[in-house]
Amino acid sequence: MLWIKALHIVFVVTWFAGLFYLPRLFIYDVESADAAVRAQLRIMQRRLLGITHVGGALALTFGIWTLILVPAYLHQGWLHAKLALVLGLVAYHIRLVQLVQRFAEDRNTHSSRWLRVFNEVPALFLIAIVLLVVVKPA
Ligand code: HEM
Repeated sequence: MLWIKALHIVFVVTWFAGLFYLPRLFIYDVESADAAVRAQLRIMQRRLLGITHVGGALALTFGIWTLILVPAYLHQGWLHAKLALVLGLVAYHIRLVQLVQRFAEDRNTHSSRWLRVFNEVPALFLIAIVLLVVVKPA
């Protein structure tokens, strides 16, 4: 159980590396006037998205595995709240996929300011989820 939980945390960290840094790459892309720099940033966006997919898939796999080992968690309120927040993170991840596609096709319509606000969203989810799993308020 502890090994599986440790791997869960390792891949949560990997997932968040992408959730935090992909929007940053979009901001640099929007703010760059140099076509060669933008082309390089788009390669970085695509590669980082790949790592983000792997981190996300394995974080969820080891999270579900932890639940299979300790099914009693399924009756606890903090887990229900956490799973609702995880759905929000999956929605954010899907939005990142759409944005990588839009930048690749040169069809981005979002401003740098919008992307900066969007960039803050995963931090809010991270704080809420870590508080729930550590404090277990309900
Ligand atoms: C399908 C998604 C997920 C499931 C089913 C899941 C399930 C679990 C379970 C059952 C535990 C064990 C809790 C304990 O032993 O106290 C755990 C631990 C943990 N989870 Fe998740 N999790 C998921 C996604 C996430 C995400 C997205 C994050 C971060 C944002 C996260 C962060 C953590 C952390 C930090 C711990 C360690 C808590 C501790 O040992 O005190 N999990 N998870």
